[in-house]
Amino acid sequence: MKPATLITGASAGIGAEFARLLAAEGETVVITARRKDRLEALAEEFRGAHGVRVEPIVADLALKESAERLAEETRALGLEVTTLINNAGFGLASPFADQPLDRATQMLELNIVALTRLTRIFLPAMQARRAGGIINVASIAAFLPGPYMSVYYASKAYVLSFSEAIAHELRGSGVVVTALCPGATQSEFQEVAGMTETALLRRLSMSSREVARLGLAGHRAGKPVVITGAGNKLAPLVARLAPRNLLARVAARVQRGRA
Ligand SMILES: NC(=O)c1ccc[n+]([C@@H]2O[C@H](COP(=O)([O-])OP(=O)(O)OC[C@H]3O[C@@H](n4cnc5c(N)ncnc54)[C@H](OP(=O)(O)O)[C@@H]3O)[C@@H](O)[C@H]2O)c1
Repeated sequence: MKPATLITGASAGIGAEFARLLAAEGETVVITARRKDRLEALAEEFRGAHGVRVEPIVADLALKESAERLAEETRALGLEVTTLINNAGFGLASPFADQPLDRATQMLELNIVALTRLTRIFLPAMQARRAGGIINVASIAAFLPGPYMSVYYASKAYVLSFSEAIAHELRGSGVVVTALCPGATQSEFQEVAGMTETALLRRLSMSSREVARLGLAGHRAGKPVVITGAGNKLAPLVARLAPRNLLARVAARVQRGRA
C-alpha cells in the first residue's frame, strides 16, 4: 500500500488549494467531491504540473453509505490514507424556520456525520502505525451561536469540540488531529450559502490558498487548533469573556445583513 492524503470537498475553494499545495510537494492525493468534471480537471492539472499520482473519486458525502465506499475505493487503489483532510462542508444563510428541512439535515450529514465517519474509519490504522494526521475544517463560527445561520454555526461547534476531544485522546500517540478555524475566505461558500457578499467582507476575506497553507503548517507543527487571520485569533478569548446572548446579538447583526 502506498501512502496518500485524502481531501474531501476538493473540487473548489479551500479543499482544491489543500490538494494543489500537497501535489506541488509531490504527495499522492485522493480528491473527492460531487462534481466529476472539476475533479478531473484538477487531477490533470496536478499530474501535468508535478508528475504526481492523483486519484479523483466522485462521492456525495451527505449520503450515509459514501464514507465507507470512499474508504473501500481508496483501498482498492492500493492506497493507505496517512493524512485525512475533512474539508467538505456548506452553510445556509436564512432564518432557521425558513430553511428547507432536507437541506438543513444534509448539512448535518455532511458537516458532522461524514466527517465523524471518515475519522472513525481511518483513525485506527493511523494509531496502529503511530503516525499520520487528520485536519478537520471547522470555522470561527464554532466559537459562538449564529442567528440566521444557526445550523451551520452549531455544526462547526461540533467539529471543533469533537476534534479537540480526540486530539486529547491521541496525545503522545504519534497521530495529530487539528481543527482548522478559518474566518471569511474567498471560495464558492458564500454563493452556495445564499449570502450576499459585501465589499467590506470581500476585503477582509483571506484567499483559500492562504487558509490551506496556514492549516497545513499548523497541523505539521502539531497544533490542535489553527485559527487563520490575526483578528480571528481573538475569537476564543472573546467567546470566553462575553455573555452568550451578547455573542448571539453580534453574530445576528453580521449575518442578518448577509442572509
Ligand atoms: N469560505 C468561508 O468563508 C469559510 C469560513 C470558515 C470555514 N469554511 C469551511 O471550509 C470548508 C470548505 O469550504 P469552502 O469555503 O472551500 O467552500 P466551497 O468553495 O463551496 O467548497 C466546498 C466543497 O465541498 C464540496 N461539497 C459540498 N457538498 C458536498 C457533498 N454533499 N458531498 C461531497 N462534497 C461536497 C464541494 O464540492 P461539490 O459541490 O463538487 O460536491 C466543494 O468542493 C467548509 O467546511 C466550510 O464550512 C469556509
